[in-house]
Amino acid sequence: MLVIDKVSKTFLKNKERITVLDHTSHVLQKGQLIAIQGPSGCGKTTLLLIAGGLLHPDNGNVFIDGQNLYELPFEQRADYRARKIGFVFQQYHLVPYLSVIENILVPSLMSQVSREKALQLAEHFGLGHRLYHKPGELSTGEKQRTALARALLLNPPYLLADEITGNLDHKNAEHVVAYLKEYAAKGGAVLWVTHDRQAAHYADNSFLL
Ligand SMILES: Nc1ncnc2c1ncn2[C@@H]1O[C@H](COP(=O)(O)OP(=O)(O)OP(=O)(O)O)[C@@H](O)[C@H]1O
Ligand SMILES: [Mg+2]
Repeated sequence: MLVIDKVSKTFLKNKERITVLDHTSHVLQKGQLIAIQGPSGCGKTTLLLIAGGLLHPDNGNVFIDGQNLYELPFEQRADYRARKIGFVFQQYHLVPYLSVIENILVPSLMSQVSREKALQLAEHFGLGHRLYHKPGELSTGEKQRTALARALLLNPPYLLADEITGNLDHKNAEHVVAYLKEYAAKGGAVLWVTHDRQAAHYADNSFLL
């Protein structure tokens, strides 16, 4: 279970205080696909980064399988994150000088996993014909699918996905969502930030931030 417990975050910019999250709480159970929606700038990415152990909240806690993430020292938290969480960034963060297949395999630097699994994921998300392209030679939707395949490589129990269908055509988006549903049905848990109007229809639960 992933618990976001009364999390608050305020950014300071040029002496202006921007309060993005104010005592926000949510629970993500294994087997669930939960959609987070809300207008641009409302704090969806901020919430996902905090839930994924990547951004320290000002107040509140995040628990993953009972472990308080921000009580762990930095290196242990990174290790815990690597085992528990697959993260798809809104800006992808692919390594520019690595090919599609090498990018998908990046998490395998920390853990034993077969190249076969990376190839299966690449095929599954329609990247089989682009394995040796670098991110600069990919369409936006191809980058998005590469980032998703990378996040899924180690079969993490929790997937935090920021806008993963935003740049996909209807057919590819449906394919990705079907995969997420299946992943949740097999016991995974997905927190899905999306502007997709159909999200509430696919998700077990959806909430507006
Ligand atoms: N490091 C930062 N410093 C200052 N302000 C920030 C910082 N990060 C985010 N913000 C501000 O916090 C607000 C929330 O940002 P966030 O990226 O969480 O929005 P979002 O809901 O994901 O939006 P979108 O749908 O456009 O991706 C925005 O107004 C943004 O300008
Ligand atoms: Mg965002």
